[in-house]
Amino acid sequence: NEIYLDGLRDVLPRLPVDFKLLEQKAQAAMPASVLSYVQGGCGDEFTQRHNAEAFNHWGLIPRMMVDCSTRDLSIELFGLKLPTPIFLSPVGVLGICTSDGHGDLDVAHACSRTRIPMVASTLSNDLLETIAQNLGDTPGFFQLYTPKDKKLAESLVHRAESAGFKGIVVTLDTWLTGWRPRDLNAANFPQLRGHALQNYFTDPYFRALLAKPPEDDLSAAVMQWAQIFGKVLNWTDLPWLRSLTKLPLILKGICHPDDAKRCIDGGVDGIYLSNHGGRQANGGMAAIDMLPAVVEASGRTPVLFDSGVRHGSDIVKALALGARAVGIGRPYVYGLALDGTDGVVHVLRSLLAEADLLMAVDGFPTLATLREAGVIRL
Ligand code: FNR
Repeated sequence: NEIYLDGLRDVLPRLPVDFKLLEQKAQAAMPASVLSYVQGGCGDEFTQRHNAEAFNHWGLIPRMMVDCSTRDLSIELFGLKLPTPIFLSPVGVLGICTSDGHGDLDVAHACSRTRIPMVASTLSNDLLETIAQNLGDTPGFFQLYTPKDKKLAESLVHRAESAGFKGIVVTLDTWLTGWRPRDLNAANFPQLRGHALQNYFTDPYFRALLAKPPEDDLSAAVMQWAQIFGKVLNWTDLPWLRSLTKLPLILKGICHPDDAKRCIDGGVDGIYLSNHGGRQANGGMAAIDMLPAVVEASGRTPVLFDSGVRHGSDIVKALALGARAVGIGRPYVYGLALDGTDGVVHVLRSLLAEADLLMAVDGFPTLATLREAGVIRL
């Protein structure tokens, strides 16, 4: 309504409200190396495209004569009451998307304005403690890339706990970097530029491993980091992962129902179905197509979902298929690159407005009614 009413006064939205135009605008505005980092994926990017396109073979069936004059999209997640069923997926190196290098804080401000949770990446440019502060009352989760050195993992998790994060998301699929031609062709490793390793460089345990502090010998610190990044995890590590924290533990990168079951047997609190937006492995299934089986295998354990969400209708379909909360990835990063905090807020509000309107016209006043109705495979 706001947008239409503004239109009557010839005031147009500052950014497009749909993903295609938003991405085109970002493509024109972002420096090439930053764009290829954000937009790029693995191999010929089939899986990345497939993630988004696969939503088209799931269809909602509208119901009529249902009073949908008000809708309730609120959810409960790990004891938190949240007004909307979405969250911001972890994205590393957000600082390169903004001129002042503080992309993580812009995103935290957007989350705080909308009360949409942020999952902060281990590879954030801003310190995890500063991100937590800037989130205010809005819940944040800390995403851990598990280093080879267990004590370093413990140190990062304890810092996240002390900073007030509400849960720990361990990403399982990125103990090494996938085959990403756009980055490789341009020798584009922005992760190593600037201050992307700040969380490590400020970590007391990490610093103690170094002969000289990173301020005095940056390249030695980066080399030390490269040696410890990416522990090869296997199922025997699950008790250790579980022991890392008393906070809710969520494992990200689960795609197979049997893996979901093993996580739950090992005491994990949340399953995070994701194929990393097609950045890690090409030639795989679309993440959304695995959602029904993973939800079934997970029983009462909440399933968080991301990969390929571009429209409000994608959010609604993922919720209908049983996701408890839906993660937004690349769309918010484009919003950030184009207009900082306002850009992120714009993208989130557009997605939510589309989802809310769709629930209204399709006759689903609550997420429970949507889940009961489900979606059909077209
Ligand atoms: C990511 N993703 C990611 N995941 C993670 O666990 N830690 C991280 O640091 C990052 N970094 C990252 C950078 C960029 C530029 C992108 C696009 C993605 C994956 C992210 O959390 C999410 O799974 C995907 O973004 C979902 O795919 P779509 O919807 O963005 O295509």
